[in-house]
Formats: sequence, C-alpha cells, structure tokens
Amino acid sequence: SLSAKDKNAIKGFWDKIAPEAENIGADALARMLVVYPQTKTYFSHWQDLSPGSAPVRKHGKTVMSGVAEAVSKIDDLTNGLLTLSELHAFQLRVDPANFKILSHNLLVVLAIQFPSDFTPEVHVAMDKFLSAVALALSEKYR
Ligand code: HEM
Repeated sequence: SLSAKDKNAIKGFWDKIAPEAENIGADALARMLVVYPQTKTYFSHWQDLSPGSAPVRKHGKTVMSGVAEAVSKIDDLTNGLLTLSELHAFQLRVDPANFKILSHNLLVVLAIQFPSDFTPEVHVAMDKFLSAVALALSEKYR
C-alpha cells in the first residue's frame, strides 16, 4: 500500500502536472487506443477514435478528472472511487485488465511530458498509486 513518502511524492508531482491534465489524458488515451487496439471496443460509439480527435480529447479530460478525484481521496480510494467503480463494472462492463493498460499508458506519457520531474522515486510512487486506483475501480466487480 501507499506509504506517507509515496503520498507526498504523488501529491507533489500532481501539483506540477495538474495544469497539463487535459493534454496528458488526451495523449494517454490516444496511445492506449493505438497500441492496444482491443480497447477501442469500449468506445465504438464515438465518431473518431484517432489521436487528437474531439472525443479522445474530451474523454482524456474526463479520465484525468477521475485521477484528480483519486488524488484527493488518496487516503481511502476504495470508498472514494466506489461510484466510479460501479459505473465501470455494471454499466460500462469494462474488463478490469484494461485499468492496467491505461495506467501503463499514463506512465509513458508522464515520462515523455515531464522527463526531469519523473524521477525513479516519482515513477515508483505513481505506479503504486495507479495500481491502487485500478484495485479500487475493480472493487465492485467482486
Ligand atoms: C467513463 C474515469 C479507466 C472506459 C469514465 C468517466 C470517468 C472515468 C471519470 C466518466 C464517468 C461519468 O460519466 O460519470 C476513469 C479512470 C480510469 C478509467 C480514472 C482509470 C485510471 C477506463 C478504462 C476503460 C474505460 C481502462 C476502457 C478501456 C470508459 C468508458 C466510459 C468511461 C467506455 C464512458 C465513455 C463515454 O461513452 O462517454 N471513466 N476510467 N475507463 N470509461 Fe473510464
């Protein structure tokens, strides 16, 4: 689980990257859809799933608002993300394996966009955080 040191690293890094959240989300989502095309099935109702398209940009922003909520509820992710978990489990029926895939793409984009701030310490803290978010989002699948 997340140590006090991890939480500090996550909050400090988040404060730096928050102004770029829309671009980060858009790039991570676009990358996921290109590199892991099986994830496109969940978004087949969109007109255009290509990188930079309006729905990809809009949903990138939406996903990052979910990540921001997770940062704000970092001390109790299971309860904090319960509604979002219910939505992904029962309504959207997203296979929880995809949470790992999105997390990976987020880490790649963070490393590209923030090469000097994305230190090994920040990397490991963000990796643990995104795993904890994925676990919390999978809560309602049980
Ligand atoms: C919708 C967050 C992972 C598929 C949403 C919404 C949020 C969100 C905030 C909007 C909820 C609402 O309308 O009330 C997140 C977070 C994730 C995550 C924080 C992990 C870090 C995924 C993954 C997939 C996915 C991995 C599938 C590959 C969807 C779909 C919608 C949605 C299909 C509805 C989009 C639409 O049709 O407009 N997500 N999500 N999500 N999410 Fe996720």
